[in-house]
Amino acid sequence: MKLKSVGIIGIGYYVPEKIMTNADFEKIVDTSDEWIKTMTGIEERHYIAEDKATSDLCTEAAKKALENANLKIDDINLIIVSTVTPDYLAQSASCIVQKKLGVKEIPAFDISAGCSGLVYSLTVAKGLIQSGTYDKILVIGGEVLSKVTNMQDRGTCVLFGDGAAAMVVSEVEEGYGILSSYIGAEGEDDHILSIPAGGSKKPNTVETINNRENFVQMNGPEVFKFAVQAFPRATKKAVELAGLKIADINLLIPHQANIRIIESAMKRLRIPSEKVFINIQKYGNTSSASTGIAMGEALADGKIKKGDVVVLTAFGSGLTYGSVVLKWAY
Ligand code: COA
Repeated sequence: MKLKSVGIIGIGYYVPEKIMTNADFEKIVDTSDEWIKTMTGIEERHYIAEDKATSDLCTEAAKKALENANLKIDDINLIIVSTVTPDYLAQSASCIVQKKLGVKEIPAFDISAGCSGLVYSLTVAKGLIQSGTYDKILVIGGEVLSKVTNMQDRGTCVLFGDGAAAMVVSEVEEGYGILSSYIGAEGEDDHILSIPAGGSKKPNTVETINNRENFVQMNGPEVFKFAVQAFPRATKKAVELAGLKIADINLLIPHQANIRIIESAMKRLRIPSEKVFINIQKYGNTSSASTGIAMGEALADGKIKKGDVVVLTAFGSGLTYGSVVLKWAY
């Protein structure tokens, strides 16, 4: 049986208005604009307003994606939100997004796969459409990392930002869309990158709050080591599965975690910088939203045209990694 071609037919992204510059962090922790720029490539990031949450960012991005696809929310059969920062622990962000988009009944669930979440979600959406289970799926990656960031830890607080990106995934013209997908995980339980407290293992207590265990903790050098291996490996695998070569890539959209990780991957993959989209300087690491925001910007900048081979590669907590190869469908 011939499988349907499935791809993205509309995209939208949204970042909150407030900007935190490196100079703002110089006032909070012992750091410098020079250190942050050199070591990470980040110049500023966006922070959400106190009274807003991940579902608000996701809803705004979803509206833009629907508009971009020329569709209404009633045309959608399923909502998937990828996030590690849902509004609440025991209610999915996707259900809240469903309500905010003004619809009922459409099934909705969250995916938790760290910064690889959007790549995981696209993979799931593709399978569900190819199996005939659903027709049009809203895939959203959204994060409010500013509210889980330890503002006393200079090793992590400068890295993260807030934002959301949404995509409408649907059947597309034959031969276009997602050509291949490769996802993987290396489970670990020693907090290389996690929020140690607030889950079922260690519910929050006065002690965990005092120890700031309710915020992101990371072993930066270990994550770095993992990322510089996983990134090129996942990209190569996905490109191979698509029957292509690295040289066939028109645009590589990497997870925007650290400019040095991206540069290392570029070197290992032997891909020139003009084929790699970078916007880390403006947003920092927005986890699940990162590759989606970058893809939305690249499209708006005219850097993607129909037929282009576009590759999204991400890695993140879990640890997880993954890469999706698309032949751009519109
Ligand atoms: N400003 C100034 N100095 C800082 C700093 C900051 N914001 N953050 C850390 N440092 C200091 C450390 O305290 C340490 O100082 P010391 O030598 O006096 O102890 C020094 O820089 C080196 O720290 P280390 O953690 O070994 O640095 P690094 O070279 O690994 O760079 C990161 C730190 C966070 C930039 C880097 O590890 C990284 O990007 N890792 C991957 C993170 C990531 O991508 N996470 C998300 C994955 S989805």
